[in-house]
Amino acid sequence: MAKHVVTLIPGDGIGLETSAAMQKVVAAAGADIEWELAEAGAHMIESCGSPLPESTIESVRRNKVAIKGPVTTPVGTGFRSVNVALRKALNLNVCLRPVLSIPGTGSRYEDVNLVVVRENSEDLYAGVEFEEGSEGAKKLIAFCEEQGAGTIRPDSGISIKPISVTASDAIVEFAFEYAKKHGRKKVTAAHKANIMKYSDGLFLREARKVAESYPEIEFNDNIIDAFCMNLVMDPSRFDVIVFPNLYGDIASDLCAGLAGGLGIAPGANIGPEYAVFEAVHGSAPDIAGQDKCNPTAEILSAAMMLDHLGEFDCAERIRAAVRKIYSDASVVTGDIRYATNSDKPAASCTAFTDELCRILSEDL
Ligand code: NAI
Repeated sequence: MAKHVVTLIPGDGIGLETSAAMQKVVAAAGADIEWELAEAGAHMIESCGSPLPESTIESVRRNKVAIKGPVTTPVGTGFRSVNVALRKALNLNVCLRPVLSIPGTGSRYEDVNLVVVRENSEDLYAGVEFEEGSEGAKKLIAFCEEQGAGTIRPDSGISIKPISVTASDAIVEFAFEYAKKHGRKKVTAAHKANIMKYSDGLFLREARKVAESYPEIEFNDNIIDAFCMNLVMDPSRFDVIVFPNLYGDIASDLCAGLAGGLGIAPGANIGPEYAVFEAVHGSAPDIAGQDKCNPTAEILSAAMMLDHLGEFDCAERIRAAVRKIYSDASVVTGDIRYATNSDKPAASCTAFTDELCRILSEDL
């Protein structure tokens, strides 16, 4: 019997390719993992009636740890995000995304070393929405007027932005505990408390309160627009950054863009009981099924998963192999060729994965 049983949700789009690559690399690193395959995505609707079958959620509950490829979410209409539903069902309140420059990836900055901690359960992602013209929307518009809370145009669709003390305390505490455990020096809270006083204002107030319990770690806050400018001008100003959900989502891609792009940005969704590891990127329908995608983000997510499972040596071997493959950059995928302005041919996802496995078979 394998040492660890992990749920593998390949998802759809490039998820099928990145997940297969990840499995090969984890095996080449010597990790003793049994994969329990579970499905999610539009292709499950016909057979299960849902893009997120109950059996997939049960598999994660049973194994406590999962790694997931991206799942396509239809824009504007269609089913709600499988990712949001999974995070809700498993109470994965933290989204953790370390952002580290890897030399040779053509990143904008060579010295990015920061950690995005994003609240995962509420804010505009809570899914409390009223369709334009619906009975609910009409009642809510009338209620706001009655309360003197402001006028909303009658032809508006409405998304509600709840931010609670419970979730804010939990995410800021996670950020400080992470900083303490990993020797990080500073936590920054990003918000728009000057405009949204009762939601972002609450988040900031709670962040300040939690910070008082960690006097050894510096704390500051940034209004989200100024944060974006400060980050782009000099990412080395930041260490651990804690966000409400929506800003965290946007800032994750921004940070990934500063440090080599989505192809190499790993992440994890963590809750009190379960952890689901997944790359920052989506299903990339423009390149899916063409053996072109960069599997590094999912491979580095697997390294985070191995840390979580206590398999630190295997995790470090994978990170060392990734640093090595980019250091001479002879076998890299098209996204990196583009970022490095190279006219050398791009490697396929398969060729990149095989080279990474070859490096792992050497004594690193
Ligand atoms: P995306 O991340 O899929 O793609 C954005 C751009 O980056 C595309 O040009 C794509 O080709 C490129 N790209 C992304 N990952 C790459 C990789 N590993 N290697 C090389 N190039 C890569 O974002 P997009 O297009 O906004 O979303 C596509 C779908 O993915 C949507 O349905 C969205 O809802 C879903 N999505 C799912 C996520 C998840 O399951 N965790 C996260 C983000 C988006």
